[in-house]
Amino acid sequence: MSADTLFRRITDYANRANPYPLYAELRERRAACQEDGSYLVGTYHDIAALLHDPRISSDRRNRTVPDHDLIEAPGIPAAFIARDDPEHERLRNIAMRPFGPPHSANRIDAMQGEITVIAKELIDALQGRHRIDLVDDFAYPLPVTVICRLLGVRREDEARFRAWTEAVIAGVDPTPGSDPAERQRAAVAARMAMGLYLGDLADNRRGKSADDMLSAFVNDPGPDGSFTRPELMATAVLLLIAGHETTVNLITNGMLTLLRQPEALERLRREPALMPRAVEELLRYEPPVHMLPQRTALTDVEVDGVTIPKGAPLILVLASGSRDPKRFRDPDHFEPTRRDNQHFGFGGGVHICFGAPLARIEAQIALTELIRRLKAPRLVEDPPPYRRSPILRGPRHLPLEIAGIEA
Ligand code: HEM
Repeated sequence: MSADTLFRRITDYANRANPYPLYAELRERRAACQEDGSYLVGTYHDIAALLHDPRISSDRRNRTVPDHDLIEAPGIPAAFIARDDPEHERLRNIAMRPFGPPHSANRIDAMQGEITVIAKELIDALQGRHRIDLVDDFAYPLPVTVICRLLGVRREDEARFRAWTEAVIAGVDPTPGSDPAERQRAAVAARMAMGLYLGDLADNRRGKSADDMLSAFVNDPGPDGSFTRPELMATAVLLLIAGHETTVNLITNGMLTLLRQPEALERLRREPALMPRAVEELLRYEPPVHMLPQRTALTDVEVDGVTIPKGAPLILVLASGSRDPKRFRDPDHFEPTRRDNQHFGFGGGVHICFGAPLARIEAQIALTELIRRLKAPRLVEDPPPYRRSPILRGPRHLPLEIAGIEA
């Protein structure tokens, strides 16, 4: 098999349940040029260097190859995840002001009690059931409720967000075979609808004091100024989408991994204080974000003897780097007490995940409560049915049999 089809095989849905042998192949090849002119990188040290390299852009407008996938929604610019410094830094600082340090240092920690109550109520609602879908019954509603409260969005509108979010994510799905132009049109329409909805909501908050992020964006400008309306729409859409999909997959991948490793599950049940480290290990071993498909070289960049030409698309396969045996001891082994665990679960460099403190707390609380309260949980299907996306990878459903619910 020649190097140029590796990406096609990685994105092939047939390999979704276990892409890791393909990542091992990728690490052997270092920077692998694909049939469409993009470059795949999968070793830990190359990824780490490229994540911190200012010659690598997150802005796809810098691509010189035809970028058919790039259709921006009229009236809504790309969000800061897809922009470079200094624009990225200004927008990220404004978005961070009501979310984390230095201005709102306690914001996320203060949500722990509320997140525990949401998790408890979702599990209480499973009383009397012997078969559940962990995704629909728990892993999806938990982070969605949390991000809606944080942003100040009505929970009743959740069904609309779900459809919009799915359309936006399908728009960046690189799996060949499906109609990319059609998916792009649907993604653009969904981003616009979502942006307009969130923009109107923020407008209604002007002049009213409340502790949600949309209110803060319109009422509390900081040293970096405030968003223009299009910037606000783009940022709110990004936060809502990021808060929807990734954490769902971390919780679901987490339960799947623990149910496959009953000893680890038992140990965490007995010693819940180990959970923060177990969640870090999950972010390394079964991460929700498998690759960053948006990078572009701003100039010719040499990676281990291969020149990635200026303007070429560069795909950093984070999940491969986090399993690199040159960096991690016994990397294909799930070790919930692992130390020395600088994984790429949240990326790295200036774009490192903005929501990481929230995602960590949500996953720790979710998994602690699930293993404490689900009696004799058992996987019904292994592997479970996966979502389509090879980028945001996780089960679409995780059917479990349970013997009941602990009080
Ligand atoms: C387990 C859950 C999560 C995972 C695995 C995850 C992963 C990531 C990764 C890998 C990146 C880097 C993207 C890049 O370099 O291009 C990123 C960026 C980002 N994440 Fe997360 N994320 C999670 C949860 C969240 C949550 C809950 C939020 C919102 C509250 C969030 C907001 C963001 C934002 C805004 C960025 C862009 C940061 C920037 O460009 O400076 N994420 N995330």
